[in-house]
Amino acid sequence: MSDAYSFLLNGRPERVVGVDVHTTLLSYLRARGLTGSKESCAEGECGACAVVMIGRDEHGAARLEPVNACLVLLPAVAGREVWTVEGVAGGAAGAVVAGAAGHAGNAGHANAAGAAGAAAVAGAGGLHPVQAAIVEAGASQCGYCTPGFVMSLLAHYHGDRRATAVHALSGNLCRCTGYRPLRDVAERLPLPAEDDAMAHRLTRAVPDVERLHYVQDGAVFWRPTTLSEVLALRDRHPEAPLLAGGTDLVVALNQDGVCHSGWIGLDGVEALRTLRRDGDHWVVGAALPLADIERRLSGAVPLLDALWPLFASPLIRARATLGGNLATASPVGDGAPVLLALEASLDLASVGGTRRLPLDAFFTGYRKTAIAADEIIEAVRVPALPPTHARFYKVTKRPLDDIASVAAAFAVHVERGRVARARLAYGGVAPTPVRAHEAEAALAGAPWGDPATLARVRPLLDAAFTPIDDHRASAAYRRAMVVRLFEKFWNECAEAAA
Ligand SMILES: Cc1cc2nc3c(=O)[nH]c(=O)nc-3n(C[C@H](O)[C@H](O)[C@H](O)COP(=O)(O)OP(=O)(O)OC[C@H]3O[C@@H](n4cnc5c(N)ncnc54)[C@H](O)[C@@H]3O)c2cc1C
Ligand code: FES
Ligand code: FES
Repeated sequence: MSDAYSFLLNGRPERVVGVDVHTTLLSYLRARGLTGSKESCAEGECGACAVVMIGRDEHGAARLEPVNACLVLLPAVAGREVWTVEGVAGGAAGAVVAGAAGHAGNAGHANAAGAAGAAAVAGAGGLHPVQAAIVEAGASQCGYCTPGFVMSLLAHYHGDRRATAVHALSGNLCRCTGYRPLRDVAERLPLPAEDDAMAHRLTRAVPDVERLHYVQDGAVFWRPTTLSEVLALRDRHPEAPLLAGGTDLVVALNQDGVCHSGWIGLDGVEALRTLRRDGDHWVVGAALPLADIERRLSGAVPLLDALWPLFASPLIRARATLGGNLATASPVGDGAPVLLALEASLDLASVGGTRRLPLDAFFTGYRKTAIAADEIIEAVRVPALPPTHARFYKVTKRPLDDIASVAAAFAVHVERGRVARARLAYGGVAPTPVRAHEAEAALAGAPWGDPATLARVRPLLDAAFTPIDDHRASAAYRRAMVVRLFEKFWNECAEAAA
């Protein structure tokens, strides 16, 4: 048990003593004078608070993870390495932080940050190439959002550049400059120079995170490192939430003040962060961040490939997990329809052992699941054989980083021109993510591509659910979408087969 822990902040050791368990990384940074990271929404929507953490991939190689500091509980960074905008460029003279690139207003913060002891990844005094590109493109006006853009761009600069510029910046809002120059910056970023300080840092190994038992003012943060420790803690403290990415839990803390006397952090448990092939299934650790699944399963499960670009933003996906997404049991969560269509199942573990449950049996009511108080989701098992045709559609008010009004995932296995098996799964049309079982049954054995098949399924889908009205969409609209989205799928996949 301890009342202190340490982490690396902009390359220097940082000791945290006696800080409330519920403090977010963002609050801590700002209280400490590193005010380059801004607070705006405090719920992961705007990216003004973006910082980068150094994580490691499955081969142990270091890489940058852009995260929303407002959604990271401070004890979760114990033993880890965080870089803020103050560390991106600067040195004694200038600490030219991003927000200061075009704005005298932020220079004071920058100097405060410099005084607070930030090291710099760009070398003394100079603008980082990402910052220089922003200045050159005139892509900063008020500067409130700019530090966050710099951090997302920094991760893109040092990343594998698989994401398009638009997707790399989809978690950052700018209210005044317009996105065009920012997109141009992302598209034209040079590759890191050979002597780039961060690139050099990324060649060094990342240590394992250590076990933590941090107690402050009667609240506890446990960070176990083995599965058996997690299960024992879960058994003894069933009321303590399992903190995976925190992208649901910390929003609830920030917005509604939902505190807990104990938290069980999962990000030190390697056994929950694995991804492996087990016969004809992929087994995805429940606490493996979505960004890792996206990268590691790329091309193997096309329906998952279709999900990721529509799931939040890179800032969220760097920490959010499938375990958290399913356990939250939101009727508008995106993971559930896709995994229902893929016929995924869950390994639920407790000190008493592990049981396997089809995902179809997991959601029992509005935000209720079949998980017992002493259980955790250990892994999600996804069949490796892709369906013949599969699509994911998400109806939103804006194209990226938005919550679905209706989401649909369809997977059809076709054999010799007939439907061998169909799975039609929806979000946003019922209190839980659901499958359209009657329509699925009508499709089974039917000729794929035959208009009569579509004609039979249409009325079944129309009558399948009784959605509700809410601020995102009316019940009538949602009900129409249930049918229309399937028609879209049919047009894209079945008509060509006819
Ligand atoms: C800005 C923003 C955008 C978002 N966009 C989307 C989106 O596009 N689509 C979408 O579906 N969601 C979205 N979300 C919601 C959220 O990111 C996801 O639900 C995410 O997958 C939650 O995972 P997490 O690891 O962060 O969960 P956490 O917040 O850590 O935990 C959520 C819940 O799951 C429980 N839990 C976590 N892991 C386990 C486990 N292994 N076993 C049992 N229980 C567990 C926790 O105790 C808690 O009750 C968004 C959230 C934000 C803030
Ligand atoms: S303050 Fe808006 S994402 Fe963190
Ligand atoms: S420059 Fe982004 S909000 Fe003003």
